[in-house]
Amino acid sequence: MSRPLDFFSQQSGTLVADGVVLEKLVESIGTPVYVYSASAFRESIRALKKHLDGVNFLICYAMKANSNLSLLRLLALEGAGADVVSGGELYRAKKAGIAPSQVVFSGVGKTDSEIAEALCSGEDGIFSFNVESAEELEVISSIAKREKKQARIALRFNPDVDPKTHPYISTGLRKNKFGIDRSEIFSLIKDIRKFENISIQGISIHIGSQLLSLSPLKQAFEMLSNLAFEVEALQKKPLLYLDVGGGVGVSYSKEKPLNLKQYCQLLHKQFGKNSAHRGRHRILLEPGRLLSANSGILITRVLFRKKRKQKDFLIVDAGMNDLMRPSLYGSHHEIIPLRNTRSSPPLRKTDIVGPVCESADCFATGRPMSSNIKRGDLLAILSAGAYGFTMAGNYNSRPRPPEILLDQGRIEVIRERESYEDLMRGEKV
Ligand code: LLP
Repeated sequence: MSRPLDFFSQQSGTLVADGVVLEKLVESIGTPVYVYSASAFRESIRALKKHLDGVNFLICYAMKANSNLSLLRLLALEGAGADVVSGGELYRAKKAGIAPSQVVFSGVGKTDSEIAEALCSGEDGIFSFNVESAEELEVISSIAKREKKQARIALRFNPDVDPKTHPYISTGLRKNKFGIDRSEIFSLIKDIRKFENISIQGISIHIGSQLLSLSPLKQAFEMLSNLAFEVEALQKKPLLYLDVGGGVGVSYSKEKPLNLKQYCQLLHKQFGKNSAHRGRHRILLEPGRLLSANSGILITRVLFRKKRKQKDFLIVDAGMNDLMRPSLYGSHHEIIPLRNTRSSPPLRKTDIVGPVCESADCFATGRPMSSNIKRGDLLAILSAGAYGFTMAGNYNSRPRPPEILLDQGRIEVIRERESYEDLMRGEKV
């Protein structure tokens, strides 16, 4: 599983990715800027596919991690479908050329119009809805009837397993809003004839994100497997697929990431040809972070150094509006100078902060950084490819940064920097 500097490396004292010297790139594009490595995305999905060889699987990339059209196209070329959680994501997926027959729709709060859009996408609607409640099932049924469509669905199972991750991104516990518990799944199956135009084809789970231990996944997969057999016995009809969600954790610093091979071995063992399932069920995966986190960085420029007795502040031109993870979850991102002469001692306890008028606008607290770093220097905030740009906003009327894709020495602006006009689009002036 990827580490922060797997695809970005120091060469001749400066940070390089996909054959491009990033300092050079920034000269023309400015800062802050998101930079992605195409080879990182490709290698990440290829590694996953390689380890799943022999399993009947479909990768539905969790677009919420990073939904830039060019990246979706890149992943689609590698055979990925999409896991969407809104009409906007569905629209993007289709624009990027992902076939609706490769799309699953997750999320606890699908609106009527989003459901109709999904049912009426392509020839035969999307691959499946991951249904989160009895009421949602009723609504999908009535909209499908109205639209004269058949809705394929999976029930999302809440296994009440602790994923041992940050509470904000834990989703598989009973106290979380996600999924349906076992007993309710059985009563829905018993009553399924009440729901017209619905065909139950699978069971899905997703217990949380940034999981660093296999054991909660193992527990959840076993529960999913048992439930699938019980559901089949009850409805006297086979299920076609099992959706194991996403959640595979990557390394943001020195923590040990989940081992991809072991994760895939678990899937082989639990659902593969030699398991009780005999490879009968197609396995859907919804990786987001795994493919994107260490495939991108955010480059920012130091505006000022502010000296205090206890520590210094480096005030940079990226803010919490550009990368929200540290402010929202207290999450750690490695931050390194683009030029490694700026990494030399003496080190000084440093807070790396943005310009936004909130004390939460902070990328690192008390981080030992070289005291040689000064105004004008460039810093790379690593592992920013997942939940970076997609969670960015315009707070403090700050235009969102551009996104650049590097591919074998080629530089492509895959999203332009927002302008002041963009900030006011749709607003009465
Ligand atoms: N499937 C479902 C149903 C999900 O809710 C999620 C993530 C995924 C798949 C993808 O999970 P991944 O493979 O990326 O762990 N903003 C947070 C993460 C939120 C995750 C929400 N759901 C962060 O920056 O850490």
